[in-house]
Amino acid sequence: MQATITAVSHYLPDRVMTNVELEQIVDTSDEWIQSMTGILERRVVAEGEATSHMGIKSVEQILQKGRTNAHEIDVIIVGTITPDMFFPSTAALVQDAIGATNAWAFDLNAACSGFIFSLGIGASLIESGKHKKVLVIGGDTMTSVLDYEDRATCVLFGDGAGAVLLEPTNDENGIVDSVMYTDGSGGNRLYMPAGGSRQPATFETVNQRLHYLKQDGREVYKSAVRGMADAAKALLEKNNLSAKDVTLFIPHQANKRIIDATAKKLGLSESQVMINIDKYANTTAASIPIALSDAYEQGMLNKGDNLILTAFGAGFTWGSCLINWGIDNA
Ligand code: ACO
Repeated sequence: MQATITAVSHYLPDRVMTNVELEQIVDTSDEWIQSMTGILERRVVAEGEATSHMGIKSVEQILQKGRTNAHEIDVIIVGTITPDMFFPSTAALVQDAIGATNAWAFDLNAACSGFIFSLGIGASLIESGKHKKVLVIGGDTMTSVLDYEDRATCVLFGDGAGAVLLEPTNDENGIVDSVMYTDGSGGNRLYMPAGGSRQPATFETVNQRLHYLKQDGREVYKSAVRGMADAAKALLEKNNLSAKDVTLFIPHQANKRIIDATAKKLGLSESQVMINIDKYANTTAASIPIALSDAYEQGMLNKGDNLILTAFGAGFTWGSCLINWGIDNA
């Protein structure tokens, strides 16, 4: 028995922020952002809207599809680094809002690899035989931790969420395999210094702008290309597959140049790679489920397709997941 995705959805806030708007906020240009990242615009939450709201909107779409009702859900996992608050978990907020009274729920922090790690855990919970319906959500409100005085980071990210429903199957379609890695020595390359137990919030931490994302862009860039390519390669080899067997490669949408370099290392052609970073920027844990759902809605996925999902993020964390797609074309 393995786990399979039986429903997929995503939600993006209505508000669009273009590169031209960012030109009014920091010393940047539409041309620089497009050429260095491939991003044209990103979505931003409305005031008062947080990660749980986007997760709930994604899940409501799954419930509307009629595949399950809320009471049947056994587990809810939310991959996020921008929970509504430290506690309770965003997953608990989603559980309450949708009325999934029989579900246990928790958040998972693996930054941009949050959805891949959550999917791996969700699949294992199904494979254990103890759970029949697991909701896996990736959601992040990155604009809540962006420093709009730092042009090197604030142009890269956006807000959004995506979700999948996992169920058991005896068919060949499903989540075939995954690989996951962590190298904590990269922790200081991409992080948010304050607000946790090491540097609790004080006037000083706020004045020093320590509640914002900090990164060494160059190092993250190099490590992301290496990590995503290595993970996908390891997974393909483990499953006796080569680049030509991949129907669609769905990478974490960090930077178009990272995606292109990774695809080149793997020997994938342009038509094998899902890209939507132009519309939504980097939505961290949400980027892969949004891209998966976007591909599904565009009719790009057929039953039996081999999908490779791959991510790299803060930690460092990285991983890859092989899916034999199990839903008929949208
Ligand atoms: N607009 C205009 N100029 C800018 C901007 C901007 N928004 N940001 C940086 N620059 C300038 C820099 O100040 C620098 O100018 P200088 O040469 O006068 O000092 C110049 O552009 C080059 O800056 P670098 O940081 O060296 O440029 P680099 O080639 O590394 O590109 C980028 C920067 C796009 C951020 C790249 O490093 C990158 O994509 N890194 C990965 C970051 C990422 O994706 N992080 C997301 C989280 S992790 C993940 O999702 C995998």
